[in-house]
Amino acid sequence: MAIYIQKLYVQSFRGIRELRAEHLNHINLIVGDNNCGKTSVLEAVLLLRDPSDFSNILRVARLRDQDRSLFAGQVSAYESFCNLFSQPPKEPLIHLSALLRTHWPNSEEKAECTISGEWTRVLLDSSDMLQLNRNFLSHKSMPELPPEVESFDGVLTSVMDGIQKNEHIVFHEYSDITGRRVKRYGYLNMLYLSPVEHMKSTIINRIVRDADYKDICLRILQVFDPDIADLLILKNERTNRPVEYIRHNRLGTMPVSTYGDGIRRVLMLANAIAQTAGGILLIDEVETAIHAQYFYSIFQFLVKACKQFDIQLFITTHNIEAFDSLLSTQDYDQQQDQDDITVLTLKKTQKQTLIRNMSGREVSQNREAFDFEVRI
Ligand SMILES: Nc1ncnc2c1ncn2[C@@H]1O[C@H](COP(=O)(O)OP(=O)(O)O)[C@@H](O)[C@H]1O
Ligand SMILES: [Mg+2]
Repeated sequence: MAIYIQKLYVQSFRGIRELRAEHLNHINLIVGDNNCGKTSVLEAVLLLRDPSDFSNILRVARLRDQDRSLFAGQVSAYESFCNLFSQPPKEPLIHLSALLRTHWPNSEEKAECTISGEWTRVLLDSSDMLQLNRNFLSHKSMPELPPEVESFDGVLTSVMDGIQKNEHIVFHEYSDITGRRVKRYGYLNMLYLSPVEHMKSTIINRIVRDADYKDICLRILQVFDPDIADLLILKNERTNRPVEYIRHNRLGTMPVSTYGDGIRRVLMLANAIAQTAGGILLIDEVETAIHAQYFYSIFQFLVKACKQFDIQLFITTHNIEAFDSLLSTQDYDQQQDQDDITVLTLKKTQKQTLIRNMSGREVSQNREAFDFEVRI
């Protein structure tokens, strides 16, 4: 791998009081019951994508708002930001640290992100007024501006490449920062796939737009099925609508829809792998939108393609069949010392989140006991 996270330390972030994950591997499976903090661990990793960039923090804070199918309303950027801190709110403090390894050159470095400060009240000034005007442009009546509001006042401290940076942050409900600004490249090349990502239907469109990019995606798709020869968008003559096709060496040119739902997830993963080559891919609830009958073939593909394209994987699941299929991508009888999997089991107690670190081999050998643990 070009660069990967070897150790992760998370302190007071969302529901996690303290979490230490070591011996991180090529493939890291984060398992545990609902609400035990799996997504929070991925979010913590994502904050390290660009530890000095406050808009990256806001973007991570708002990730959960992507799923608009369940809730109609959207909370403000400020409210999302406040929810990153462990509740009930005391002193605002989040500390994240990762030990990174690069193989070429063979080196180690630290990435850190600390957000600390206090809750205060600030008086609003004319620039805040401007922002409020902008927000309410489409409304008939503008609400009266409160003279003062609750605010976060603190410091964002980051460490990257051995350099520490401090940035003073004042952030409140009327601040002119939203986190929507999308920076394509962070300090670390990372991509997060949320459980609702498969709903997006424009994947092939995106892939075929650029010939070089399409070539890379085809190479990845061929890990899944070597007979996939091309992706095309052709116009249906009768309806005049564009239709997505796969040209297959044995099956001919057939619409993607004839391939079943598995292929949609494979296409989405191929697109994600192409974007993260040499970096880190985070997949939340990997089993969503994959029928259990495809688990084995899709996970074999995912693991093989990520190894080939030098990608470190963090995968969450609470589905025991998906977990078993992921473990079975390793052949522990054949592989003497080699193990590409680390399993992180999370368990939420009343006070804090506990984590257990095990190698894939250990879990595989104690599978029965482990089954019991995953399910409780
Ligand atoms: N800011 C916070 N302070 C305290 N607990 C939180 C905070 N944000 C989320 N939680 C708790 O974390 C849990 C959800 O974590 P999440 O990472 O979504 O779990 P999972 O992905 O395993 O379902 C819930 O129990 C929720 O109450
Ligand atoms: Mg989750």
